[in-house]
Amino acid sequence: MVANFLDFESISKKVILEILHRAAHFKHKIESQEAIDCSFKPKIMANLFYEPSTRTQYSFEIAAHKLGIKTINPNMQTLSHLKGESLLDTMTTFKAMGVDIITIRHSENFMPHFIANETNISTINAGDGTNHHPSQALIDLFTILQYKKSMQDIIISIVGDVAHSRVAHSVISLLTIMGVTNIRLISPAELKPTQDIVNTSYYDDLSKGIENSDVIIALRIQTERLQNNNIPEKNKYYLKYGLQPSVLAHAKKDALIMHPGPINRGVEIDSITADSKQSTIQQQVANGVPVRMAIIEHLLKHEP
Ligand code: CP
Repeated sequence: MVANFLDFESISKKVILEILHRAAHFKHKIESQEAIDCSFKPKIMANLFYEPSTRTQYSFEIAAHKLGIKTINPNMQTLSHLKGESLLDTMTTFKAMGVDIITIRHSENFMPHFIANETNISTINAGDGTNHHPSQALIDLFTILQYKKSMQDIIISIVGDVAHSRVAHSVISLLTIMGVTNIRLISPAELKPTQDIVNTSYYDDLSKGIENSDVIIALRIQTERLQNNNIPEKNKYYLKYGLQPSVLAHAKKDALIMHPGPINRGVEIDSITADSKQSTIQQQVANGVPVRMAIIEHLLKHEP
């Protein structure tokens, strides 16, 4: 059996801590421009993004290159699925050509799980529908740990389209594993999750939801997953839920302002806040490379 990276239900805390430890090692190597030992040179990774991506696709690409792994990024507009080939047949075709590992982003929940179950190819979930985006959650945790030495007693507020955010779902699972007990979800009623999420409390008021928070994670409205009549009007949304200096006075003075990206300036966050010293947005992007190096290394180390 090959190893996969799909969600936090199928991975132990021990493995999460190992990956974080290796990510710190790779971050140090990158920043100090030291050579990176790797023995994965004959390996090939395919990035199959059936939905748009900047950060995830290309940081997996850069991470693989730093490990000496060859990558392919098929043009999704010219793949043979447009001639009727099933997604499973596309995967087994890549496997037959010698691909060792795939990253897949897909609009359907659990599509990466299906691929992992049905093929013998190491699969990384790069975001499935509204379900999970585990590598982004690991990046966010890695970034928080750079600034907050303990996860005990910290308050983390997640603001925005919680209902449709795969990042939020993965972040909540991961923080719960790490022992965080105070996770607040803040959104207008139409973007509230339809079911209660264990270990969270819900607010529809931004000021109350971020009161004394140590970390505030802003989310993009997932317009691609919403019916037009359910998409909040941008200006109204910004006034009630946009992160801006006046409202941030309710959080702790040194609260981290996070966002997995891509950001929509003037909707969920203003430019002053996004570009402020408290913002970790660019740090999250930079951390994407060492964290994804550690994920790839973990999978390839556990090959049969
Ligand atoms: N955070 C994130 O998944 O960004 P991309 O859509 O650019 O990959």
